[in-house]
Amino acid sequence: MDIIEKNQQRINQLATQSPHLAKQVQELDWSELESALEECIFTQDEIGLPKDYRPATYFPLLPESAEQNDLYKKAYQHGESLIRAGKTAAFTVAGGQGTRLGYDGPKGTLPVTPIKKKTLFQLFAEQILGLSEKYEVTIPWYIMCSPLNLNATVSHFKKNNFYGLGEENLRFFAQGVMPATDFEGNLLLASKDSLALSPNGHGGSLKALIDSGSMADMAERGIEHVSYFQVDNPLVTILNPLFIGLHDLQNSDMSSRSLTKTGPFEKLGNFVSIGDRVTIIEYSDLPEEKALEKDSDGRIKYRAGSPAIHVLRRDFIEQFASGEMKLPYHRAEKKVSFINDKGDLVEPEEPNAVKFETFVFDALPMAKNPLILEADRREEFSPVKNKTGVDSLESSMEDLNKRAHRWLAQYNLSIPESSTIEICPRSYPSILDIEKIDHLERDLTKDQIYLTKHA
Ligand code: UTP
Repeated sequence: MDIIEKNQQRINQLATQSPHLAKQVQELDWSELESALEECIFTQDEIGLPKDYRPATYFPLLPESAEQNDLYKKAYQHGESLIRAGKTAAFTVAGGQGTRLGYDGPKGTLPVTPIKKKTLFQLFAEQILGLSEKYEVTIPWYIMCSPLNLNATVSHFKKNNFYGLGEENLRFFAQGVMPATDFEGNLLLASKDSLALSPNGHGGSLKALIDSGSMADMAERGIEHVSYFQVDNPLVTILNPLFIGLHDLQNSDMSSRSLTKTGPFEKLGNFVSIGDRVTIIEYSDLPEEKALEKDSDGRIKYRAGSPAIHVLRRDFIEQFASGEMKLPYHRAEKKVSFINDKGDLVEPEEPNAVKFETFVFDALPMAKNPLILEADRREEFSPVKNKTGVDSLESSMEDLNKRAHRWLAQYNLSIPESSTIEICPRSYPSILDIEKIDHLERDLTKDQIYLTKHA
């Protein structure tokens, strides 16, 4: 008997005693589970390393020739014209479980700014407001949650009056879930009346955008490009005109920002080229000798790491609708509590289960004319992943503060280094344009400076 049949029989039997479990069983996509088991348990991955790959070429942060300078200027203007014409949308993936952080609630509701304690969602909302004001356009915002945090996320936005963006310009939806199995492929029960289910990875966002009607909504609004970012990076620039302009001028299906890795083994996905396509090799999969290879100028060859910031063409995402184009499943071995055959809850101390996830960057090799634009890490990336240390709330807050100091340094305000500065994201799109700091309202208290153009 094959594993799907075995699973179906066992779970159907249990489901007769529980309407909730019966509903879950009915909603389960068995053919999807079959693919996942095949890819991750029976033929044990190996999505494997691509053959004949080389470091991906990328556009440098600053132009390196007069010709490139002209291109960047043209691209910046083009990007601005796309934003102004209402062809761009913001898209946040916020369906993760944030297990490392261990915060009780959707991660987007975590307060992250040093003075006003604004949440991640508020930071993004205010940045979008600032962009809408600068370009005199509505910028719709799509937020992918999971079935586990959708209601809490929507309640948070309602309570905050959608941060002034207008409910009609926001769209919340849940991504799909996948059941966890043991290492043999047997489904696990989280309780007597529920399967152990978890979100199907950020790659689930492409299907979820389609299934939720968000792509149709975008088409109606005339959106052509979708700016993809993760909920846990407070430094992200939501719509970067240069990035969007280059992406469109090159006719790219999917473009990415890159960061220069701090060392050969930094835990970031590595951008590589295969022929005319781009893909990402995870840090754990890049062979050591490759990671250590150097250019003639002494820089490591595989230095372009991924901060998970992309722009995708709407019609590229739509190609995932038919199911013909599909992302592969990855196997994640995790500790998952489960009900054993005797009906007791077991809380394992070692990984005992497989979770099946797809990753959005696996769409890259399917994208035509892919483009990568380098980003300055200090300006664009400082994720909140861990409770303490690297990539924690503390380090991220400090990076926000440091960036604010750098931004204000140009105004000769002689701000002491010890001051804490917070800048309202509504001011971001224009803060580097304005001539005089007096255009901003300064709110000085103790050693704290909060800058905003708005009361
Ligand atoms: P991470 O890979 O950091 O996962 O997600 P996570 O669930 O947030 O945190 P840990 O690993 O449990 O500690 C990167 C981004 O992808 C989103 C997350 O919300 C975050 O913005 N994501 C992840 C989803 O939207 N869905 C998923 O199924 C997984």
